[in-house]
Amino acid sequence: MANGVLYVTEPWSVVQALDARTGKRIWRYDPEVPRDKAHDSCCDVVNRGVALWGDSVFVGALDGRLIALDARNGKLRWRAETFDPATPRTITGALTANTGANDRRLLVYKLGGKSELPESPAVVVQHPEPPQAADDAATLLRGRLLYQGNCGVCHGDSAMGNNMLPDLRFSPMLEPASWKSVVFDGALKAKGMIGFEKFLAESDVEAIRAYVISEARKELAFKLMPRDKFANLRPGTKSRFSAP
Ligand code: HEC
Repeated sequence: MANGVLYVTEPWSVVQALDARTGKRIWRYDPEVPRDKAHDSCCDVVNRGVALWGDSVFVGALDGRLIALDARNGKLRWRAETFDPATPRTITGALTANTGANDRRLLVYKLGGKSELPESPAVVVQHPEPPQAADDAATLLRGRLLYQGNCGVCHGDSAMGNNMLPDLRFSPMLEPASWKSVVFDGALKAKGMIGFEKFLAESDVEAIRAYVISEARKELAFKLMPRDKFANLRPGTKSRFSAP
């Protein structure tokens, strides 16, 4: 908020300016993100808000455009491509870009700057077929509850990753032996991932593995869905969970 005006984002990277006293809309800017871009998004077509500087409002659009608007009327001032929109990257965070595939890049822009950005590295999105594990409802429920109670705080809700730690769904450690050595024995203790030997039974750790693998399979099915299924989404329609 600045000078009595609230700047908020909606799904599809739409920005609104509202009078903070009355709630009345002052302007609305829709960057018209192509709807099939929902396919590349890790976590729906969300946007975690704008940045304000002087009389400019900045928003990162889902398709990678960094957009500067005139704060007074919402008119476009300039835009820059932070990555090639044909690559499976998105911006969903607070002006950050990611592929949902453990691939990150920090870009810094300077107002009035003249430098060219370095070339984007090629994106290698790997969603390998996960290993086998139990998939009966009772094991998956137990795994989910144990995950939520012991792992989610660091590894993110629904095993989706949180942009800082590895996305467990696509971890090379999903194989039973390496999973046990990390999660139970504490092979990565020195890096901040304790072993859970004192807190969980081996069968608990295995149930969590089964749950994470079931989430990996859901994500894989989503990624393999054809892009044109996403083309007719209305703004505000959640992409991942409801549309196709
Ligand atoms: C206090 C935070 C924290 C908690 C809680 C936590 N982890 Fe971790 N975990 C980490 C960190 C940090 C790493 C990254 C270590 C590194 O840099 O190699 C990690 C890495 C891992 C890895 C290796 C992934 C890879 O691809 O390298 C696995 C598997 C893992 N955690 C599973 C779990 C499971 C299962 C739970 C719950 C039983 C859990 N973690 C709870 C912090 C946590």
